[in-house]
Amino acid sequence: MKEKIESIKTQMLEELSNVSDIKVLNDLKVKYQGKKGLITEATSLIKEVPVEQKKEVGMLINDLRNAFDERYSEIEAELNKKLLDERLAKESVDITLPATTLEEGAPSILEKVIEDFEEVFMSMGYDVVDGPEIEEDKYNFELLGLPKGHPARDAQDTFYLKGDELLLRSHTSPVQARTMLAKGGNEPVRIICPGKAYRRDEDDATHSHQFTQIEGLLVDKDIKLSDLKGTITTICKHMFGEDTVTRFRPSYYQFTEPSVEMDISCFACKGKGCSICKNTGWITIGGAGVVHYDVLKGCGYDPDKWTGFAFGFGAERCAMLKYGISDIRTFYNVDLRETKAFDRREEE
Ligand code: DAH
Repeated sequence: MKEKIESIKTQMLEELSNVSDIKVLNDLKVKYQGKKGLITEATSLIKEVPVEQKKEVGMLINDLRNAFDERYSEIEAELNKKLLDERLAKESVDITLPATTLEEGAPSILEKVIEDFEEVFMSMGYDVVDGPEIEEDKYNFELLGLPKGHPARDAQDTFYLKGDELLLRSHTSPVQARTMLAKGGNEPVRIICPGKAYRRDEDDATHSHQFTQIEGLLVDKDIKLSDLKGTITTICKHMFGEDTVTRFRPSYYQFTEPSVEMDISCFACKGKGCSICKNTGWITIGGAGVVHYDVLKGCGYDPDKWTGFAFGFGAERCAMLKYGISDIRTFYNVDLRETKAFDRREEE
């Protein structure tokens, strides 16, 4: 029996020393330690060994098993290292290659203008609020003095979504009605709402079916048109430069009385007349007015106690003026080269 074990050991070590790949190594594991393996078989023969030799034979078999395990682990580690070395050699990385540069973005000019508006309004105590772009007819029109069938609705070329009750808001003014109703009629309101509006316009250099407005509403006691003028003038000086002059022309909106159109002196020619202002010296930036008696009433404010003013700026218009952009589509067909150029100009 002892000789048998000795010869298994010699054969085993010999075979292990010739192993050059992991598959052969695993085959040897089966050959020696598998269910019918040579070591397993030798173990089962212990029972036939005379009692006085059992202990010694048992120890020899144990040694044999340990010898196998030890060599097996060594060879396995060597083979794995060899495999790894080969893979690393193949996958070598050339660290002298230049890195791929990630293109950095830049903030959109339109967003920037909106943020500037928000900042200056907030510094004057206004809250920035949001409203839904999918709007109900009631808020977009009815509560603003435009009942169904009113001819002035046509001017807004509205996208209706479902029957005649749901639509894509054609201006941000419905947020006025929503805010007043939410406040409940007995506290002052001071909000702006920048957001998207939609009209069935043909897209060209100055029109887009989707555009951005900045709506504003202030409701309090004793608010007059002069308060609106003072506020807008301050805002415009901040946005377009200290030497900006504002002008208010009579206009007409169903939700304000009186209503005005807001102009600023042309920043390019300082009022002398040029191609940007079409030689008038003035540029229109939005509409405004004193909140109509019926709008206050319909939205839960007692018009004999409360008064207010409201306004709506065209955000793209303001951005186009501020950055000398002649095509409104610049804001939507994002070209990183343009955005970055504006960003650089802003930094200078
Ligand atoms: N909603 C108007 C428009 O889209 C702009 C406007 C005019 C808003 C007067 C107002 C306002 O709040 O008082 O043309």
